[in-house]
Amino acid sequence: MKRSILLFQLIFAGLVLMISQTFGQTISQSYEAFPVKKKFVHLPVKTGAPKTWMTVNINGVLQHEFQIELAPGEPDFYATVEVGRWQGKKLVLTAETVTSDSKWLTNVKVADEMSDEALVYKEAYRPQFHFSPRRGWTNDPNGLVYYKGTYHLFFQHNPYGTSWGNMTWGHAVSTDLLHWTEKPDAVLPDKNGVVFSGSGLVDWENTSGLQKNPKKDASGKLANPPLVLFYTSIQADRGKGPAAQSMVYSLDEGKTWKKYPANPVLPNLITDNRDPKVFWYSDRQNPAGPKGGHWVMALYLEGENYALFSSQNLTNWEKMCDIKNLGCSECPDMFELPVDGNSAQTKWVFWGGDGKYLIGTFDGKTFTPEAGPFTTKYGGNDYAAQTYSDIPATDGRRIQFSWMSGGKYPGMPFNQQFTVPRSLTLRTTSEGVRLFIEPAIEIEKLRNSKQANFSANLKGMDNKIKVPGMKGELFDIEILLDFKKFDEKNPLSTDTTNLIYMEIFGQKITYNMGSKIIESAGIKAPLVPVDHQIRIRLIIDRTTVELFANDGIIQIANCFINKDKVPANLSIWGKKDLATVSVKSYQLKSVYSIQPGS
Ligand code: FRU
Repeated sequence: MKRSILLFQLIFAGLVLMISQTFGQTISQSYEAFPVKKKFVHLPVKTGAPKTWMTVNINGVLQHEFQIELAPGEPDFYATVEVGRWQGKKLVLTAETVTSDSKWLTNVKVADEMSDEALVYKEAYRPQFHFSPRRGWTNDPNGLVYYKGTYHLFFQHNPYGTSWGNMTWGHAVSTDLLHWTEKPDAVLPDKNGVVFSGSGLVDWENTSGLQKNPKKDASGKLANPPLVLFYTSIQADRGKGPAAQSMVYSLDEGKTWKKYPANPVLPNLITDNRDPKVFWYSDRQNPAGPKGGHWVMALYLEGENYALFSSQNLTNWEKMCDIKNLGCSECPDMFELPVDGNSAQTKWVFWGGDGKYLIGTFDGKTFTPEAGPFTTKYGGNDYAAQTYSDIPATDGRRIQFSWMSGGKYPGMPFNQQFTVPRSLTLRTTSEGVRLFIEPAIEIEKLRNSKQANFSANLKGMDNKIKVPGMKGELFDIEILLDFKKFDEKNPLSTDTTNLIYMEIFGQKITYNMGSKIIESAGIKAPLVPVDHQIRIRLIIDRTTVELFANDGIIQIANCFINKDKVPANLSIWGKKDLATVSVKSYQLKSVYSIQPGS
């Protein structure tokens, strides 16, 4: 009897083995390294493969966990776990659910080099002068802070796949806002959850006391201030947990980042409260007050509601006020700007992630909206913009990056990109004070000599004017439409057949002089001529067209892919004698072909 049971068990076990080998049973498998000697473990990824959770254990302690589409066979690309920070320790990477016939373990590579030096930045749909992550996914720009000649750019990053997830802060640095070098991911998920959006700053006076070894420079200024990043920790993946505000800091000028041990610094207040933007408020009314000001945190609560908090040391926060029903949502930004360049007359801008903004006053405690919400942005590929902290007063600009959300990069080992760096100003218009957003001047450093310098009268709807000399892929184009002569003959014309078309790479831009509407790739925006003129700036990269009009009173950022390799062929046509058209066009260089400063 016993014998027959044993025989049955053996046959059953054999069958299970056969079936699992044939169909691939789901098992847990680990990769181990002891001691860790190399900088990187490269994991094989196949986009669309079943996702597994992978845990990262160091000396038996769970560091973090992420989801990954591990390639069971030939990978599309490699995702990298940066293990250099755990040199000498024991690393165990456990994939919780892989099929027993998966080849992922044999395909793991351990190296001191990235897996794909020969391929990276050479991909078919790689933006040529816009920031895009080396590998994996990005959404919001985070923690934008300038320190000692370096622009730090952190970004919502999925290091292990090309869709949203495993939110981590990637990190890139640049000295010119154009050439970016990726550094190890700066903020990894931990027991408090994954890492959502937030901001960065320099703690010039060491108000946090995080610098235990302060050094003074010749002028008596702190020479080694902490750099501090604020983010939202949230258990977004394995069970939704409370969203709270946390902090990391660097004492080596942004090279390495440490979690503040007593995180979170601001506990959960309401649902998914998030995206802390922290800045120093100088109290001009009361400069003799304690420390001459205080830190302010603008925090998104829910709906269209935000709140402001204050702190003297970056770690203890007190609520100052609620700001409700602002007409914008997510990722707040707050900054003071001179109106028309006059620093004696300033206004505060409150900015929401959806690109809507309000203009008002801020007394250090309460933001009081005076006008808005307005927007400069039309169209979908522009979200969660943030401006730089700590740009020196000698520069004085308010520089912003935005996520070009929703672009498509088929088959690429990276996904999503940012806009060009943009410069923000407040200017008086006939409707009141408004925000203007223009490409930062740095873009002009990429210009080759002028390709087209061309002027003509519109010749009629069926008579396309082809701008001569337009060759290449990357462009910075200025188009001036001058309606002076037409307006003199047809004052206040609202005839909606007064149309002008412009086309480049098959992308159409239309200006309707009757309805005063500009349209780019189907996205419409109101645009009234100033002094009988419409000025259009087009910045064209391999995967994007960004349009800025009349000094940036509106902008339309579009993603597109020139799959059929349509040549540039800039052509312009429209109602006869409606306008004189002048074009100045520069071909732009790829940042991958030139070095910074050259
Ligand atoms: C905006 C946003 C933020 C959040 C982050 C998560 O795009 O939803 O509110 O912090 O993305 O990736």
